[in-house]
Amino acid sequence: MTVPGHVEVRDGNLAIAGHDCVDLAEEFGTPLYVTSADRVRENYRRIRDAVEAEYGGGVRVHYACKANTNLSVLRILEKEGGHIDAVSLGEVESALRAGFSPDRILYTGTAVSTEEMEGVVARGATVNVDSMDGLERLAEAGGEGFSVRINPEVGAGHHDHCITGGPDSKFGVWEDDAVEAYKTGKELGLEPVGIHMHIGSGILDADRFVPAVEKMMEVAGRVADEADVEFEFIDIGGGVGIPYRPGETPLDVEDFAEKVVTAFDDGLEEHSLGKPALAMEPGRYLVADTTLLLTRVSTVKETPFHTFAGVDAGFNTLLRPAMYGSYHHVFNASNPDGEVGEYGVAGPVCESGDLLARDREIPEIRRGDTLAVRDAGAYGFAMASRYNSRPLPAEVLIAGEPRLMRERESLDDLFERQV
Ligand SMILES: Cc1ncc(COP(=O)(O)O)c(C=O)c1O
Repeated sequence: MTVPGHVEVRDGNLAIAGHDCVDLAEEFGTPLYVTSADRVRENYRRIRDAVEAEYGGGVRVHYACKANTNLSVLRILEKEGGHIDAVSLGEVESALRAGFSPDRILYTGTAVSTEEMEGVVARGATVNVDSMDGLERLAEAGGEGFSVRINPEVGAGHHDHCITGGPDSKFGVWEDDAVEAYKTGKELGLEPVGIHMHIGSGILDADRFVPAVEKMMEVAGRVADEADVEFEFIDIGGGVGIPYRPGETPLDVEDFAEKVVTAFDDGLEEHSLGKPALAMEPGRYLVADTTLLLTRVSTVKETPFHTFAGVDAGFNTLLRPAMYGSYHHVFNASNPDGEVGEYGVAGPVCESGDLLARDREIPEIRRGDTLAVRDAGAYGFAMASRYNSRPLPAEVLIAGEPRLMRERESLDDLFERQV
């Protein structure tokens, strides 16, 4: 299988960004998230450069920060000149604390409370409304510019839970109501600045984006024409996947850029939309493969049917396998060249669904080994919980010498807010 360049076997152990995973586990304890700062930059530049090379206008890469909101990760992307896609007041606040100016933050909430709307407006982020009544509340909160999230009738994604467009999606304003939404916004004294859609997540085939972009441009054209709107940006959303499984082909970014920008440009011309900024919102693509989750083997258990390697990271630490049935590749960082056996990798949570991997071929696992779960940088720590009263894990950033970017919680932290 192809391993990303920043993860390799070195001197008999697995290493990330040149640092031995077994040593990192020893130094910082487990479970531990370890992120390569260089890889974050590389991923960001790869997709930005590809799209910029194709598009003659401005390109805004809004990092969908729900994937990973650690301030150290956000700061890397801030310095790169990125923008932010935030879905909560907490994410807006995180982006501001990481140094993003409010004009680089687009807030796309859903089921937005009035309090949250007011908080976002007070912080100066642009609001991308998700419903007709969101426009009224934005105006009441003193908002100025607005954009509308359109549900474009087409959806795609790696799991039903991740399809965010189409007839069954809770998100956005149905495309037939788009013109009405912009007219209403203008009547309320708001200034239309953009239009947005997002069809789903984990998409590896560039062709899947094309009909959605075409639809977006058609809707944008109708809005421009019938509601007399000139867009500063048109946002095609996120959803770019990564190859979690060995043998999956990564998205060809040049092909993606070429196809998406062609559909975008054709739409601009056909519908006389001028040259707005092309905005996009990759989340997982920027951060997923930057991070390994290191976990230590506490027991190896044989049953008549399976061999389970019991580890100290479970769905409290990495939820995706239990929640979506997602595949995350597991390395034996202590014994990468050992004889391959078949294992279930079982977490410590008291639930039978707490398996990070099932019936998986992994080099021989011994008690005390350090395992490395790949592609844990997106929706990893961000979805971690204290379920079973287990404190949250630590996070390390490698930018030069490895250092903590989040301390491990203690048992005392579990009780901090109880009264
Ligand atoms: C509005 C919006 N933008 C961006 C994303 C990021 O998706 P991904 O991490 O798959 O790129 C999502 C995820 O559902 C989303 O809803």
